[in-house]
Amino acid sequence: MRVAVVHGPNLRLLGRREPEVYGHTTLEEIEHRLHALGRELSVEVESFQSNSEGALIDFVESAASRVDGFVVNGGALTHTSIALRDCLVGVDLPFVEVHLSNTAARERFRRRSYLSSVAGGVVYGFGPQSYLLGLRGLVALVEKNG
Ligand code: DQA
Repeated sequence: MRVAVVHGPNLRLLGRREPEVYGHTTLEEIEHRLHALGRELSVEVESFQSNSEGALIDFVESAASRVDGFVVNGGALTHTSIALRDCLVGVDLPFVEVHLSNTAARERFRRRSYLSSVAGGVVYGFGPQSYLLGLRGLVALVEKNG
């Protein structure tokens, strides 16, 4: 099994970005943990971060031919991007939406997600663990779908 982890805008700033909300763990450290979990689960993990909506969509479209599903932290695009949603629906692969913070407990504009209703599952609020739980959830989804 091979999966891709997609990080949206501003997630490269993790570690120094609003640490009271997102903690002190860097994206590099999260990547490291994801790869370690991937090895434990015998899953190949690749990842991609961009601040650009178009680049994220291009990545999902091209990765779709080589992966079995996606773990997606769309960052702020979660709340705005119909295009990212349409792309994830269009490639017709399972995906799990993840967020470090509990977006339901923050500003009102973060309560709407264009991704949740088409995701296989969602994980909010566990900090870096959200990604790891999301990866485990995705692997279960892919295995269930055969
Ligand atoms: C986030 C939550 C989003 O609302 C925000 O725009 C982010 C990070 C999270 O992981 O908690 O960039 O996706």
